[in-house]
Amino acid sequence: MSKYILPVSVFGTVIGCAVLLKNHVTGGRCPSKATINGKTVIITGANTGIGKETAQELAKRGGRIIMGCRDMEKCEAAAKEIRGHTLNPHVYACHLDLASMKSVREFAERINQEEQHVDVLINNAGVMRCPAWKTEDGFDMQFGVNHLGHFLLTNLLLDKLKESTPSRVINLTSLAHIIGKIDFEDLNWEKKKFDTKQAYCQSKLANVLFTRELAKRLQGTGVTVNAVHPGVVATRLGRHTSLHQSQFSSSVLGPFFSLLVKSPKLGAQPSIYLAVSEDLEGVTGRYYDVMTEKEPAPQALDEEAARRLWEVSSQLVGLEEEGQYHKSNLSAESQSKPA
Ligand SMILES: NC(=O)c1ccc[n+]([C@@H]2O[C@H](COP(=O)([O-])OP(=O)(O)OC[C@H]3O[C@@H](n4cnc5c(N)ncnc54)[C@H](OP(=O)(O)O)[C@@H]3O)[C@@H](O)[C@H]2O)c1
Repeated sequence: MSKYILPVSVFGTVIGCAVLLKNHVTGGRCPSKATINGKTVIITGANTGIGKETAQELAKRGGRIIMGCRDMEKCEAAAKEIRGHTLNPHVYACHLDLASMKSVREFAERINQEEQHVDVLINNAGVMRCPAWKTEDGFDMQFGVNHLGHFLLTNLLLDKLKESTPSRVINLTSLAHIIGKIDFEDLNWEKKKFDTKQAYCQSKLANVLFTRELAKRLQGTGVTVNAVHPGVVATRLGRHTSLHQSQFSSSVLGPFFSLLVKSPKLGAQPSIYLAVSEDLEGVTGRYYDVMTEKEPAPQALDEEAARRLWEVSSQLVGLEEEGQYHKSNLSAESQSKPA
């Protein structure tokens, strides 16, 4: 019996320390106390997880918050809860399904017609490791929602963002981008065997490439764009993975796992930092690992891939045909590496 005491107590101490220290080692809170009274912030996928906590804190800081979600019942309930907690009445639920380009267009049209300005756009919604589902328009679900939906949305809101300068676009990516590859021959997994993990990594790499190319195209306009990996956060993102699907892992390993990863409240801090911090004024085209600027993976620095992804994405979502394709800002000056 006594031979188990030492290993058990070491194990217990390690777990205890990990739980106590996790909030510190995973980034802590946004250091800026900036308020955003009168500023309009759009957050996609804001009914739960990181998006909901981001909406709540930005509402607390005085923002006019528009939550773009696919399920209006969940969105209204979250908006109501946030209004109650923050006593900010300017928190609105608005329908947005990023798996439908029609829905993205309707959402953007409503914003362009009804909002006087858009100061911050947080492209937060995401789906991870789902089965080989397709969006309404026939795109791979992860590429369609995580990249193409946000690509179209951002482009359709660019005029409004430019009218509202200084304004910011924040793209939620993931450290998973480091093992991502963009397969230009088969972006939507129509030719090769579907690999859900690689599909997620591709979509998250696309988020960083999009950030860098958009920053280049927006140089000198007063609209900045940055990408952020929020850290490992206990949300429902892993709902399609075996950890959530099996009874044993969701009931036994799940609670243990959530003790070791950070809360959605802390997971929202990087998005809040990028949205409000005075330190980020004029900063564009960067990648943040939680709240620290880092160099993304080499394939995310490939300028030719970023340009090509932009062109292909424009064609896929039908922007090119309509002349809404934002190449007008591509001056010689703006073709330099983002700051
Ligand atoms: N959690 C992490 O450890 C982690 C790590 C790295 C990066 N991230 C990134 O952080 C972002 C937020 O993730 P999370 O952890 O907060 O995940 P989450 O709790 O699963 O929240 C994801 C949000 O996206 C929404 N969404 C999914 N498909 C959508 C669609 N077609 N249209 C509109 N909204 C849609 C979800 O709506 P429903 O509730 O209706 O499904 C939900 O509101 C994602 O981009 C993710 O890739 C998270």
